[in-house]
Amino acid sequence: MSDRIAQTSRPIHDLLARRWSTRAFDAAKPVSREQLITLLEAGRWAPSCNGDEPWRYLVWDRKRDPEGFQKAFDCLSENNRKWVKNVPLLMLSCAGSNFAATGKPNRWTQHDTGAASTSMALQAAALGLAYHQMGGFDADKARAAFNVPAEYTPMAMIAVGYQAGADVLDEETKAKELRPRGRKPLAERFFEGGWGKGVTA
Ligand SMILES: Cc1cc2nc3c(=O)[nH]c(=O)nc-3n(C[C@H](O)[C@H](O)[C@H](O)COP(=O)(O)O)c2cc1C
Repeated sequence: MSDRIAQTSRPIHDLLARRWSTRAFDAAKPVSREQLITLLEAGRWAPSCNGDEPWRYLVWDRKRDPEGFQKAFDCLSENNRKWVKNVPLLMLSCAGSNFAATGKPNRWTQHDTGAASTSMALQAAALGLAYHQMGGFDADKARAAFNVPAEYTPMAMIAVGYQAGADVLDEETKAKELRPRGRKPLAERFFEGGWGKGVTA
């Protein structure tokens, strides 16, 4: 699905190395119902604090529900709309606020929702699907449009589909698509023995 494999200092699992966030989607290739349910099943089995499963996802399939899809699309930032116009399936992750069992505040819900989204990202990579998360959307607009309860926080829109060539993109987005992938040095983000003490080999 991609020629943008992560250049890692040690070999990592193929799925992790192959996952990346393309913006070039094939407008002619839908995501099947079977693939969608498989993705959601991967999210469903993510770990969560106390097994609370505090995430909720809204799904819009462009073909099945063009009106709902358009409403979700209209919540996106202008930059994201430029490429999401070719995407066949959108999702919105939402994180709860309280433990379902006790009603007490659950401060891990956003952590857990991210875990569910990452599980789906990896399942998407395994299925040969492109998967791109977005913070660039109007959360208040999405809340109002889809009756998201006050207790849930809209976290990320997620585009799912098949990757296309970069030529489907406008010039500005194409430049983003083709720029080299990279990460900060490991020791700048991972510490051992004290804050700021980077892990070394
Ligand atoms: C929570 C979150 C929000 C993001 N928001 C956007 C966005 O609004 N638009 C966009 O094009 N990419 C967005 N991205 C994608 C990131 O830019 C991308 O994951 C990052 O640059 C690393 O690239 P990679 O996923 O290809 O490894 C977002 C990713 C995450 C996890």
